[in-house]
Amino acid sequence: MIIQPRVRGFICLTSHPEGTAEHVKQQIDYVKSKGEIKDGPKKVLVIGASTGFGLASRITAAFGSQAATIGVFFEKPAAPGKPGTAGWYNSAAFEQQATEAGLYAKSINGDAFSDEVKKQAIELIKKDLGQVDLVVYSLASPRRTHPKTGVAHASVLKPIGQPFTNKTVDFHSGVISDISIQPVESEDDINNTVAVMGGEDWKFWIEELKAANVLAEGVKTVAYSYIGPELTYPIYRNGTIGKAKDDLEGTVPFLNELLKDLHGISYVSVNKALVTQSSSAIPVVPLYISLLYKVMKEKGIHEGTIEQMQRLFAERLYSGSAPALDEKGRIRVDDLEMREDVQAEVAALWEQATTENLEEISDIAGYRNDFFNLFGFNLDEVDYEAETNEVVRVPSIT
Ligand code: NAD
Ligand code: NA
Repeated sequence: MIIQPRVRGFICLTSHPEGTAEHVKQQIDYVKSKGEIKDGPKKVLVIGASTGFGLASRITAAFGSQAATIGVFFEKPAAPGKPGTAGWYNSAAFEQQATEAGLYAKSINGDAFSDEVKKQAIELIKKDLGQVDLVVYSLASPRRTHPKTGVAHASVLKPIGQPFTNKTVDFHSGVISDISIQPVESEDDINNTVAVMGGEDWKFWIEELKAANVLAEGVKTVAYSYIGPELTYPIYRNGTIGKAKDDLEGTVPFLNELLKDLHGISYVSVNKALVTQSSSAIPVVPLYISLLYKVMKEKGIHEGTIEQMQRLFAERLYSGSAPALDEKGRIRVDDLEMREDVQAEVAALWEQATTENLEEISDIAGYRNDFFNLFGFNLDEVDYEAETNEVVRVPSIT
């Protein structure tokens, strides 16, 4: 099959197996170029391991400190006439490259919110690794079927209290328009979003892993959050998703108590705004990211997902001393994004941005390139006119 991008709205319906493999290889090469992470993790479970920050975490653990990794994700293999999802190909490529490097890597493809997948992960850890010393929680999902009640919760991206109007960009066409988003009509929208993206499922995972005695002495667990600039507060941090992030962050003290007897610890790391499948779906955010990229690249402080996760592991989680935390107890690797000079420049550009000047004053080109890279497209190393090997199987998939 010859595979080209097929875009609908903010999603790309196709993914390129050799392209995603090249993208994974570039991330592996980056981690190797930074050298060994001394005293890094050795046996790692990554929940949400196939794309974005979770994939970058898995790559960092494996190639930064030779960790054995188990990845959990929800992806689709190729079907006749239809390529698999990017996360499927990423995981196949990761496993192949890890195995070639002599590293253990196995994956579970299924619903991480379910009890069944948690049981599968526990069985696999028991059989192959005994215990894990790091659990990364990096799920991003629009829905969750609650394992105890059976209720299907759908998350929403809405402001709370009043409508929100601001600029947004269609990053494919580069057209900037005003968007107005109506606020939640009831508490249900908030509760459902918290049920999907809040901390309960992280808590369930850690409780069940602990009860099964598969967490090692001194275990660490980390989940990811976001804050961002004031201009996105109404839709992000003060909106429904922000309530879910408050809940996720609020889970840390509970987990620390739970892990106390193992001398374990839990963290939330606040990461930088980056182009991922999840963030491209949030109104207003792609325009902010394309202005942010411009400013951070000009200052020489831009990072992608792999640079963020390598820095999180090397300089925060495994630096040899306890990481500095903010007033709310969070690790901050969004420190460069949130620098005053960066935010002031982005805010000034935000006021100026129009469809006409967008290419010039923003890095919308970099945004688009990163977006296509997520699906294995726009990579110089890949011949997109060539036949692909689309039926890639993840060798160890359960
Ligand atoms: P992503 O969409 O790239 O990754 C989501 C992962 O979750 C994938 O591996 C996917 O397969 C998996 N997943 C989704 N539903 C699942 C299910 N039911 N069962 C098993 N796996 C499932 O997203 P991302 O942007 O890397 O987000 C990861 C975390 O990082 C989220 O908590 C997000 O809020 C946070 N974060 C993102 C940004 C950003 O700008 N992208 C910034 C800071 C924090
Ligand atoms: Na992820």
